Amino acid sequence: MERMLSGIKPSGQLTLGNYIGALRNFVKYQDDYEMIVFIANLHCITVYQDPKELRKNLKDAVALYLACGLDPEKAIIFLQSDVMEHAQLGHILCCNTYMGELNRMTQYKDKASKGETGLTAGFYVYPTLMAADILIYDADYVPVGEDQKQHVELARDIANRFNNRYSETFRVPEPVVQKVGARIMSLSDPNKKMSKSDHGDKGCIYLLDDLNVARKKVMSAVTDSIGMINFDPVNQPGISNLIQIMASLNGESIEKVVEKYKDCGYGEFKKAVADVVCDTLSKIQERYHEIINSNELEKVLEEGAKKASYLAHKKLLKVQRKVGLDIFKK
Ligand code: TYM
Repeated sequence: MERMLSGIKPSGQLTLGNYIGALRNFVKYQDDYEMIVFIANLHCITVYQDPKELRKNLKDAVALYLACGLDPEKAIIFLQSDVMEHAQLGHILCCNTYMGELNRMTQYKDKASKGETGLTAGFYVYPTLMAADILIYDADYVPVGEDQKQHVELARDIANRFNNRYSETFRVPEPVVQKVGARIMSLSDPNKKMSKSDHGDKGCIYLLDDLNVARKKVMSAVTDSIGMINFDPVNQPGISNLIQIMASLNGESIEKVVEKYKDCGYGEFKKAVADVVCDTLSKIQERYHEIINSNELEKVLEEGAKKASYLAHKKLLKVQRKVGLDIFKK
């Protein structure tokens, strides 16, 4: 069976963008692939997190993985920091990555070009840790939203470089990006990605949002003055975003959604989108409340870390041998 791997960084609460662009696809793929999904907590701390808040976000994220349908019988689910081999391989890969490559990473470039101060070294090298997350398990495929594709491509470059330098060691992974829903935009600024760092923003729907709040956010989504339901991300980014949300959650094509709602006004269309969003959230939240205070989470993470550690440790030893770090064979 081919192997698929992905992760989410809960540096805040998980969003509808995370669900549509990533999480629901992990659930879909877990039947057909050997699936490894982790909570990328080492990535969270590349930007300062309040420890209490971080712990809550991590616990919520595990509960949401399960609430959205990830099944620990089918997928290996774990907390990244429970398998510190990721960070150990991360250092080795960092030493096989050029600063020029990291300077070209969009997320770093964006922040640096805005003159943001206080960027940490951890934030700068985070794509090499992400490469380690992927390469340590020899993943064949990495399902991600559009914004993470560049990082998977860097992981491919690093894998190829390492293989050429030290002989065949890593499988070269392929990114898997959905055609519909790979970039859900902010409801209040449809030219910006919906993001969990938009604290208190009306533009971001969180999976644990109160249903009335989520409905209000959809109803007040920024649209345009054209007044037609068209899929035209350039001229009608707001409406096109709502069409994508609807199509993704209903499993319909963009064309089908446009056809169904072409004679509706924006208010009516927004109401239909809000209904679908609230229906999705309410099912997820119901299951979330069942598991958040059970001891299921701890068991899942413990079991997942055991399985992941076995694979990661074996791979790290192999890499250490290739690089010449060991003296005596372990
Ligand atoms: P993160 O936590 O920013 O996002 C997790 C996943 O959600 C997708 N996503 C979106 N998709 C569509 N529309 C949006 N508005 C949206 N916002 C987020 C992301 O593309 C991603 O797939 N570095 C990664 C986490 C990570 C990882 C890995 C992923 C660490 N190691 C190894 C894959 C493999 C991150 O920060 O994703």
